[in-house]
Amino acid sequence: MSLESGCFLYRSRTALNARSSDFQAILIAARRRNQELGLTGYLHYEDGHFYQWLEGPAEALAQVAALVEADPRHTHIEYLWRGTQARRQFAGWDMGYGSSAPGTLFDWVAEREVHVSDRAEFARAVLGFMLEMSGYGAATKAATSDS
Ligand SMILES: Cc1cc2nc3c(=O)[nH]c(=O)nc-3n(C[C@H](O)[C@H](O)[C@H](O)COP(=O)(O)O)c2cc1C
Repeated sequence: MSLESGCFLYRSRTALNARSSDFQAILIAARRRNQELGLTGYLHYEDGHFYQWLEGPAEALAQVAALVEADPRHTHIEYLWRGTQARRQFAGWDMGYGSSAPGTLFDWVAEREVHVSDRAEFARAVLGFMLEMSGYGAATKAATSDS
C-alpha cells in the first residue's frame, strides 16, 4: 500500500474494566468497520487509559474519529499525534489490541527516559511501544526512527 495515509494517536480515560465485555464489543465493532473502510491500527489499554493509533484514507479516518470522539465509554480524549505517512505502521491489522501485561507502556517509557511532557517525543514512544507489542517492531524500525 503505497498511497499516503492519514494517521492519529490519542490517549483517553476510561472507567471500563479490562475484563468487561465492553472491551470485546469495542474491538468487534472497530474491526468490522475498520475493515470496511480500509483503516488499520492498534489499541492499547493500561491503567484506566486507552491509547489508539489509527491510520488510513483521510475521509474514513475522519468518519471514525467522529464516532470514537462521541463514544461515552471513554473521556478526556487528547490527541498526541496527527499527520500523514508514506506507508502504514500496522498494515494488515484491522485493530491490534494489547493490555498492560507483561510489558507496560509506563515501564517502557521510563526505561527509555522518554520526556513525556514533550508531546511529539511521547507520541513517538507510544507508537514504538505499540509496534513492539504487535510484533511489527523489528520490521518497521527503520520507518519509525526519527528523520
Ligand atoms: C477506545 C475506543 C476505540 C475505538 N476504536 C474504533 C475504531 O478503530 N473503529 C471503529 O469503527 N470504532 C471504534 N470504536 C467504537 C466507536 O466509538 C463506535 O462505538 C462504533 O464504531 C459503533 O459501531 P456500530 O455502529 O457497529 O455499533 C472505538 C471505541 C472506543 C471506546
